[in-house]
Amino acid sequence: MPGPRIVVTCTLPGQATLLLETEAEVSVLSDDGNVSPKTLRQASASADGILSMLTDRLDRELLTACPRLRVIGNCAVGFDNIDVAAATDLGIQVCNTPDVLTDATADLTWALILSVGRRIAEADRYVREGSFERWQIGAFLGAAVHGKTLGIVGLGRIGQAVARRGRGFGQRILYTQRRRAPAALESELGAEYVPLEELLARSDFVSVHVPLTPGTRHLLDAAALARMKPSAILINTGRGPVIDEDALVAALAQGTIAGAGLDVYEHEPKIHAGLLALPNVVLTPHIGSATRETRSRMAEAVADDILRVLRGEPPSSPVNTVRR
Ligand code: DGY
Repeated sequence: MPGPRIVVTCTLPGQATLLLETEAEVSVLSDDGNVSPKTLRQASASADGILSMLTDRLDRELLTACPRLRVIGNCAVGFDNIDVAAATDLGIQVCNTPDVLTDATADLTWALILSVGRRIAEADRYVREGSFERWQIGAFLGAAVHGKTLGIVGLGRIGQAVARRGRGFGQRILYTQRRRAPAALESELGAEYVPLEELLARSDFVSVHVPLTPGTRHLLDAAALARMKPSAILINTGRGPVIDEDALVAALAQGTIAGAGLDVYEHEPKIHAGLLALPNVVLTPHIGSATRETRSRMAEAVADDILRVLRGEPPSSPVNTVRR
């Protein structure tokens, strides 16, 4: 009997494809993830499993047209590209890749904190364009990072890892989220639970780590940004639409806040022209988890979960609960 059919939307790092091929027939749709909705729809129509990227839109219409589909393994911790409610209605298991990317994403968050705070990207441009003629006492003065107040919006796994790094920099940690964290975690991180408004008003660096949901879309809008200190820096390595980008550009241009470090964008991969024009912003192309080790582990973890589900075993990282 032929094995199950798994559609993989791009060439995977590490051993993930080999792993899938031990138990399934695998179709890889592209090298770089540039797969049209039509190609994805056609290829998925007879698939038992899909290994998707966060750029693949798996909506109700597509899922309904996949009668054999039993599992989607999304190679990301976020899953806002998938209609999970539709998958659950259709009995399709959705899995993601938490944990394996926590440290890589926290590291990139810190790279942005340091880069914006200490004006590293700006200084690099200055050197490359041949402007460095002499050391000057007043040149490239940035914000001190050590000993400052770090506000974490969303103290999940990545938020916690960012907070731990903040402790290493002698920072005071504030956090906000719907529910207060357990006392043991608060005490380990030395983290103080405060309402969002207070976090924004007190923090020198605000770092966003909430998932994108209808409730978090534009959580940081013009009114929220207006609460921040004029010296404060905003960092986002989570999901772009959590910040109202028009409002952010206005706040940066008017000096309502001092700078921003962004790895994700409201209309990704489109970047707001206002952001591109501002020197006090560091922009990276959604590379939070982009280390060789992490991306291989993500692909292998999600491949493993797909095979587990197709064997009738429970996955390690389920997003939804489906009846079997
Ligand atoms: C995720 O996993 O959701 C990141 O955005 C990409 O690694």
